Amino acid sequence: MRDVAIVGVSQTKFGELWDKSFRDLVVDAGMEAIHDANMQGEDIEAMYIGNMTGGLFIGQEHIGSLIAEHSGLTPIPATRVEAACASGGLALRQAVMAVASGYYDKVMAAGVEKMTDVEDATPAIAAAADQEWEAQQGVTFPSLYAMMANRHMYEYGTTREQIAAFAVQGHENGSLNPKAQFQNKISVDKVLNATKVASPLTILDCSPVSDGAAAIIVVPADEATKYTDNPIYIRASTQASDTLNLSSRKSLTSIESTKIASRKAYDMAGITPSDVDVAEVHDCFSINGLIAIEDLGFFEKGKGGQAIEDGLIARDSDIAVNPSGGLKARGHPLGATGIAQVVELTWQLRGEAGKRQVDNPNYGLSLNIGGTGGTAAVHILSRDRS
Ligand code: COA
Repeated sequence: MRDVAIVGVSQTKFGELWDKSFRDLVVDAGMEAIHDANMQGEDIEAMYIGNMTGGLFIGQEHIGSLIAEHSGLTPIPATRVEAACASGGLALRQAVMAVASGYYDKVMAAGVEKMTDVEDATPAIAAAADQEWEAQQGVTFPSLYAMMANRHMYEYGTTREQIAAFAVQGHENGSLNPKAQFQNKISVDKVLNATKVASPLTILDCSPVSDGAAAIIVVPADEATKYTDNPIYIRASTQASDTLNLSSRKSLTSIESTKIASRKAYDMAGITPSDVDVAEVHDCFSINGLIAIEDLGFFEKGKGGQAIEDGLIARDSDIAVNPSGGLKARGHPLGATGIAQVVELTWQLRGEAGKRQVDNPNYGLSLNIGGTGGTAAVHILSRDRS
């Protein structure tokens, strides 16, 4: 297998983007990534596009062909990849495997979602849950994660304030990110007293409904400096599955697919969790951010809440978590999120993250989760090649 490097990245602003269509968003992101890689559109040999549910949000399927046409890149192979909120992470993984195997040399991985065109996004999002055993019984994603939060508080004595603090830090970082949907700071008090969505979670524990797209160009590592002076190396790309249905799991306080995908990723990269300098983790709800930092091995199980409270995941700590603002503040256009996480890590490792820049990071890790963990995708990046 060949080593793979990132030579171009981009992200549109995330938010309620009334003036941009689905196709505008992904073409804007793709063109900017191609420009960032000092390439021309014709250089791209294949595209993998993460999109969860264009059919339910905008009535559009057959996304690969649509995007190839509107980016002017027909007839290159363009493949849509779907794994709920992990669609972007898996699209990147397909692109990495395509280059690593020697099948292609210049591949785009993109992600896109246009969620704000429907009046109520909840039924479309709920399509990522088990229809018979969860969604049709009235269970929504906020309520599934609320059950996980209640159980975490019960098993480990995690406090409501500690869970809220993850969202507070997300907004703090998002306030420094011009591409974030929310750039306002919030407090623990504000989170606790906001509109209740599913007890104990309030609206300020939830990622929002968002429009947006992001794109990445990958090439063989040996050729990366032909395109850029600062390639970022993909040291691991892994994926694992778990039951779709939350009630079939052994534990509600841990996500097995995260643990398995991340252990494989650490092995592949030859590092341990303590080597990671900056991470972008999947905080679709604040409790999921807390569970992620435990399952990734950054902190012991049950100690995540205390770590957040003690400032151990802040931008100036040993492991900066979600400097972009995370899903909570940057926004969560489902299919775009896994790509946007790696775009942020690339900016951080290149030293191009502006006011939210973490001090001199070498290793970055992304965790992108589908549903309540039915799918997990992990990528480890580094600034140095070895
Ligand atoms: N965080 C902060 N503010 C939010 C917000 C969020 N998650 N969601 C909405 N708001 C703000 C809006 O900007 C709006 O502010 P304004 O009045 O100043 O313009 C206000 O709250 C009301 O917005 P509205 O769109 O009416 O909220 P809503 O009640 O329809 O939606 C949620 C709120 C929490 C239900 C929705 O954001 C949601 O479903 N989030 C979860 C998404 C999800 O499940 N993703 C997949 C995860 S697996």
